[in-house]
Amino acid sequence: MPKERKYRADSDYIFVRRKAKLAQSDTSSIYTQLVRWLQANHALHDGEFYFSDGTVTTLNVLRYIDVPFDLGNGWQYESYDSVPCSLVPSITSIAEDQLGTRTGAMRYHFRHRESGAQCHALAVTVPLHDADLMLVFRSLAYVPKERVPQWIAFEKECKRIENSAVQFRGKVSVVGGTESTFASNITLEDVFLPHTLKSEIMRDIDAFFQRGVDIYKRLNIKPFRKLLLAGVPGTGKTMLCSALANWATQRAFFVAYVSGSSTFGARFWKIHQALEMAASSSTRAFVIVEELDAYLQDDESMAEMLNVLDGLETPSNPFGTLLIATTNHPQKIDERVLKRPGRLDRVFVVPEMNDRESVERMLRNYIGDAWRDEHLAIVDELLGKPGAFIREMVLYALTVSAYQDEELLTLGHLQESARLLAQQLDAKDDFLTRHKQEDIGFSATTKRSKRAQDVPF
Ligand SMILES: Nc1ncnc2c1ncn2[C@@H]1O[C@H](COP(=O)(O)OP(=O)(O)O)[C@@H](O)[C@H]1O
Ligand SMILES: [Mg+2]
Repeated sequence: MPKERKYRADSDYIFVRRKAKLAQSDTSSIYTQLVRWLQANHALHDGEFYFSDGTVTTLNVLRYIDVPFDLGNGWQYESYDSVPCSLVPSITSIAEDQLGTRTGAMRYHFRHRESGAQCHALAVTVPLHDADLMLVFRSLAYVPKERVPQWIAFEKECKRIENSAVQFRGKVSVVGGTESTFASNITLEDVFLPHTLKSEIMRDIDAFFQRGVDIYKRLNIKPFRKLLLAGVPGTGKTMLCSALANWATQRAFFVAYVSGSSTFGARFWKIHQALEMAASSSTRAFVIVEELDAYLQDDESMAEMLNVLDGLETPSNPFGTLLIATTNHPQKIDERVLKRPGRLDRVFVVPEMNDRESVERMLRNYIGDAWRDEHLAIVDELLGKPGAFIREMVLYALTVSAYQDEELLTLGHLQESARLLAQQLDAKDDFLTRHKQEDIGFSATTKRSKRAQDVPF
């Protein structure tokens, strides 16, 4: 470094130190104090200040940066370390069991690939309360003037990671719902469906990500596959989606669940937003859309949906995006969607409980310790019923026998429960219909679901 420059930097440094001392007693804002602290602790002659949210000090983001990370013009980001700061102590939050945002000062080390020249940026992050008394983090960075483009590239990468799948690993991102993420612990074994159906779905998924994505790319088509699970209400489509979401998050896929349950209801932009998140996730992605028919109620939504299904308006994910949609009313899905090849790649029919073995496994599962072999006698009666019917029947029978202080769950309890339930359904009881609407699940709230045929089984 030329002598003169060093001298100037030092003199600035001393000058600022002196100024900072003078300012100690004044009531200047936190930012003025931060500016002074940064100037005093970074021997920079010519620096610029940058505001940002706390992303650059989020440890959970920094650990995913692939170092050395290219910042353009031969410069690379190499590492960070923490710097003691008299103004803001270093405190780390824990988010989703991992180290989250950190307050206090941090130094970011940049190096030029060829010349080996080094420089650094210094940033302080403070916790603040916004108008709603929410805790927010704000960072102020002090960056060498000539390295500003590199700092912008660095921040951009931090933001990209924060918005990408990384932070959601093991979690499902909810688009348009009341919660932002949820963890699914349902496994494929929990869903009682004919083995052939489950294995066909899994084979389809596997083939798409193992071989399909490359083929699509070779043919210059966006790697985007669309499956539809169709069946009457209560056959386990939602449950199957949860199990698939769990399966995918365990394999570090990005999974977005489009929810029609928030105030905006089943709106097309939610699907588009989920596809965009998938495209920027830098990994294989699932986008789950429940009750697809609810999104296709007017011509405008239909036109938008057709464009997305055709891939015209689909943000492209080079790692592949699989859209899994469900419907209780395939007949409500326009022929333009259902019949034209390529719009929906495959439709899987999720059936009622049609085989003895599945019914028996389900019964044993729900009845648990109260199981007795005499219960087998009800299996035949349950063939053709949706899974949700069997679950409700068992729950009801179990509660009745518990309330009556009876030690055994008898076949009679089950039969009586099945009879009452069937009766209720026949009457298309209003109460049950309303109850379904208020269901706390992720089911879409649609105009349709006010109708009696949407009783969950
Ligand atoms: N095939 C199934 N296997 C296991 N449980 C099922 C099955 N079908 C329905 N159920 C039970 O019924 C409930 C409602 O089913 P759900 O998945 O919401 O049906 P759908 O989405 O097809 O309307 C589930 O939470 C589950 O407890
Ligand atoms: Mg459902």
